Amino acid sequence: MRTIIEPFRIKVVEPLRMTTREERRRLIREAHYNLFNLHADDVLIDLLTDSGTSAMSSAQWSAIMRGDESYAGSPSYYRFEAAVRALMPFRHIIPTHQGRAAEKILFSIVGGPGRIIPSNTHFDTTRANIEATGAEAVDLVVPEGRDPESRHPFKGNIDLDRLEALLRTKRDRVPLVMLTITNNAGGGQPVSMENIRATHELCRKYGVPLFFDACRFAENAYFIKLREPGYAERSVRDIVREMFSYADGMTMSAKKDAFANIGGWLALNDDHWAQEARNLLILTEGFPTYGGLAGRDLEAIAVGLEEVIHEDYLQYRFASVQYLGRALERMGVPLMQPVGGHAVYVNAGKLLPHIPPLQYPGQTLAVALYEIGGIRSCEIGSVMFGRRADGSEQPAPLELVRLAIPRRVYTQSHFDYVIECFELLLQEKDRLPGYRIVWEPPRLRHFTARFEPIA
Ligand code: F0G
Repeated sequence: MRTIIEPFRIKVVEPLRMTTREERRRLIREAHYNLFNLHADDVLIDLLTDSGTSAMSSAQWSAIMRGDESYAGSPSYYRFEAAVRALMPFRHIIPTHQGRAAEKILFSIVGGPGRIIPSNTHFDTTRANIEATGAEAVDLVVPEGRDPESRHPFKGNIDLDRLEALLRTKRDRVPLVMLTITNNAGGGQPVSMENIRATHELCRKYGVPLFFDACRFAENAYFIKLREPGYAERSVRDIVREMFSYADGMTMSAKKDAFANIGGWLALNDDHWAQEARNLLILTEGFPTYGGLAGRDLEAIAVGLEEVIHEDYLQYRFASVQYLGRALERMGVPLMQPVGGHAVYVNAGKLLPHIPPLQYPGQTLAVALYEIGGIRSCEIGSVMFGRRADGSEQPAPLELVRLAIPRRVYTQSHFDYVIECFELLLQEKDRLPGYRIVWEPPRLRHFTARFEPIA
């Protein structure tokens, strides 16, 4: 069949509150033109993030009723542990309330001044948790990964030459190497099995453990199946297991590829680090058989992990992100290429060349999409990255807007609506204003900054 359908039907619905363009103009003005300030029920199509926004299945909701809330030794923990271990056979599996809590614990143990943590590209919470310990986070993605036009099939790969150069000279300062799969900060781009294997071999040669930031591991595995020679006939489960056979540990946000609304974990083989991690866990998250989670959350994750590797689901997931990307591309909307696993990244700098980087073309696009159609997206450009540690402001390398697609939430007609909003946007784009920031906090300004259109 040519038509790839949503491999589910809908049993429970969440009504959307329709708004008019007039109302949205007022609402975004009252939100100081910052989409994080909007009330979510004033948003029609929420593409702010794919994190924690998945629709859970009937099987997950049933499992939630089975959740056992015992403080210690809950059977829900053991079901969670077994589900993780079935795909990721690490010795120690430590639940946390979300991904960044796992990062915080891991880097409290292995980080510290003088330490260096290389990765293809660290996600911002990972980088922040590394830097908070005084260590240095280094991004070593392949050059194609930094070129928005390159159509390399595995733009998330780490640059092995630069990694080896780092390990050769500074091995003693590198407690572990990370790979973010898929590479969110680089556009949701996958890492190939060949690159994972070669990174593993390099790490072994220098005696450094390899960890995955594995939030979108199933999407990465599906890209390997689609794009990497020798994997077309292998099951996704098999591919996932092979991927993790090359790792010594992982951090995970179950809010992505486990279809859960909250949760995460740290998994690793090293007994000593695991002991330290559990000590920190008890201080900050909770007892090791629940981490920062309720038993019912552990159940939702256990079932979600089983569902996320279904190939009907992954085929639909891939097709729906591609559907949106292809349509925008045909209309001439410049995108980060190729379209990634969880999101479409629009190159706002290229779409709105009349707006200089420090008048935030990404913010212009995000505000316009909200006014036109009630779509919420996320600026990933000079608003997010423009303020440097020394207080100066410099343009980010790219002015992007991310349309992140929640899992199992929107149907094809929702995407058709988004596409139609872009048609209107293209007609109006040359008249759209830039923005200035009228207030910002000292750090992470994109969450709370206040803006004003430049007349
Ligand atoms: N690593 C990656 C690659 C991520 O994308 C995220 C979260 C995290 C770690 C942190 O996980 O949110 O559970 O603490 N990404 C979300 C996003 C927030 O919108 O891309 P968390």
